[in-house]
Amino acid sequence: MTTLKFPKNFVWGAATSAYQIEGAWNVDGKGPSIWDTFSHKPGKIANGENGDVAVDHYHRYKDDVKLMADLGLRAYRFSIAWTRILPEGTGKVNPKGLAFYDRLVDDMLKQDIEPYACLFHYDLPQALQDQGGWPNRKTAYAFAEYARVVSDHLTDRVKVIFTHNEPWVTAVLGYFLGDHAPGIKDPPAGIKALHHLLLSHGLAYEAIRAAAKQPVKIGITLNLNPMYPATDSKIDREAAMRVDALVNRSVLDPLLKGTSPIQEFALVKMLSRSLIEAGDLEKIKQLDILGVNYYSRSVLKHANFPLVSAAQTFPEGNEYSGMWEIFPQGIYEILMRIWKDYHPSCELMVTENGVPVPDGLDFDGRVRDERRIRYLQNHIAQVHRAIKDGVPVKGYFHWSLMDNFEWALGYGPRFGIVYVDYKTLKRTVKDSGRWFAKVIRDNGIKI
Ligand code: FCB
Repeated sequence: MTTLKFPKNFVWGAATSAYQIEGAWNVDGKGPSIWDTFSHKPGKIANGENGDVAVDHYHRYKDDVKLMADLGLRAYRFSIAWTRILPEGTGKVNPKGLAFYDRLVDDMLKQDIEPYACLFHYDLPQALQDQGGWPNRKTAYAFAEYARVVSDHLTDRVKVIFTHNEPWVTAVLGYFLGDHAPGIKDPPAGIKALHHLLLSHGLAYEAIRAAAKQPVKIGITLNLNPMYPATDSKIDREAAMRVDALVNRSVLDPLLKGTSPIQEFALVKMLSRSLIEAGDLEKIKQLDILGVNYYSRSVLKHANFPLVSAAQTFPEGNEYSGMWEIFPQGIYEILMRIWKDYHPSCELMVTENGVPVPDGLDFDGRVRDERRIRYLQNHIAQVHRAIKDGVPVKGYFHWSLMDNFEWALGYGPRFGIVYVDYKTLKRTVKDSGRWFAKVIRDNGIKI
């Protein structure tokens, strides 16, 4: 057995998001978000589930912070619900909403856990969706106002703020494919949403800086997947390249290079007025931390599908989980690619990585989730390999701290290193949680 040691001060953490864990959807002055609206519509979420209660983190945050401390987490990445702070999206601030995040942050700091606050994890205020949502450029300015309020209030204690989690998912699943809130199926709306999300990152970057009480690092987290062609044929290789442009380059290029491949898409050329206005790309390219969320790769073939003319395939003989292929070397490939193609001057971190496992309590109350341990072991080893090959990865956050509401799939997929009994809401640390705690203590893994 060899031990793969990580650099000193490597940030080991876990991540969650507001709608997936908080519950208390209409408590203490919170306004409705598009996820409240969407999940209350019949037929949108598996088994008619919703995040009204979720795992009730809003009321149980103290116990949850205690759990994080027991696991030895150095950092915790959580998201702030915009509608707790500004129930209508803009305008009147709700002090009770700010007070919740005060309590959470203060508790974390008492336990020496560094707060990594994310401003947006899919839960747009319904009031802003009623004015067009992300396809409306004005939403980007509303987001900057919200970012200013949070920065003004929390940066006396919070030193790391992420603007967005996976803007591509917000835009494409929400407005192009319609599987996520607000459930719109309109490809041009998806492309407009993506640009305005990125623009809002740039505007928020400036607003956070201007209001900050001390030097803060400002990041964004992106879902990135290596794209493989299903065969060696020219049409499949081109299909993989188009999807790569839409998923990876559409976010990496503007943030790290100040260019955008979406201007080349026929669909964007057809829009009546220019989507990307003068000065937008300069604004977007401001970043201190790039967070990589990695779960899987995609294998693509040429097919009849809007915008990209491609479809995913699932080759025989590979290993799959409840949602995706399990492909550890992909995390290495994506980190190396960012390093080689973009030479980023910002910090790099893995802000999400994990696997859904159909866990359950065994006869003795333990959760033996060996498959998750194996997944983590193999992926963390690939992160180590990237560091060894010169990529200065600064941290690794597991998705997720605890089982939670997995969007359109409801409570089916369990991603936590802490098991949650959804009837009693009791938390139980899984074997993977104990394993991860040891990784943190050792600052490394044994392989
Ligand atoms: C990511 C999301 C997170 C969760 C995991 C499984 O794309 O950021 O909320 O859904 O996938």
